[in-house]
Amino acid sequence: MTKTLSVSAIQNGTVVDHITTDQTLRIMHMLRLLDKKHTVTVGFNLPSKSMKLKDLIKIENHELTPEEANQITIFAPDATINIIKNYEVVKKLTTQLPESIKSIFICPNPNCIIHSEPVESFFYIHENGKVMKLTCKYCEKSFERNQVKVKQ
Ligand code: CTP
Ligand code: ZN
Repeated sequence: MTKTLSVSAIQNGTVVDHITTDQTLRIMHMLRLLDKKHTVTVGFNLPSKSMKLKDLIKIENHELTPEEANQITIFAPDATINIIKNYEVVKKLTTQLPESIKSIFICPNPNCIIHSEPVESFFYIHENGKVMKLTCKYCEKSFERNQVKVKQ
């Protein structure tokens, strides 16, 4: 049976598949994919066997690092990260939720020292069952993933 792809296969690069819908733009923003001028194609709300609907991101001629792959799991715990060479999947990166994340997010607490001092943001990440929280090292307040914004 021939399978038609909604988003064309790529020759070389990285495919981030099975992204929870609504999280894709934040992932692109977090990884600064557009700033780096990579050729990126995105599929939104695609049908999936394992999820109701999924999104995917294809980045041409660029391999995500294991650290970036782990950061993706903050927003999409079930994402699969495939490295493509010569049209073949040559590696599927195994990911795990990072213990902390530095400089990428800004603290939503307006009174946090991060807004007035030249310090890099730093959040501890902890998971309690299905609930994942990020705790700011500076003000010690905890936030859900949808509350923290990516630093511009
Ligand atoms: N892919 C691509 N270009 C290629 C090869 C694969 O864009 N040259 C994409 C596929 O469309 C898929 C992802 O990379 O979205 C993973 O490919 P593959 O492992 O072949 O798909 P599945 O078996 O469906 O993956 P999974 O193990 O994640 O279910
Ligand atoms: Zn803070």
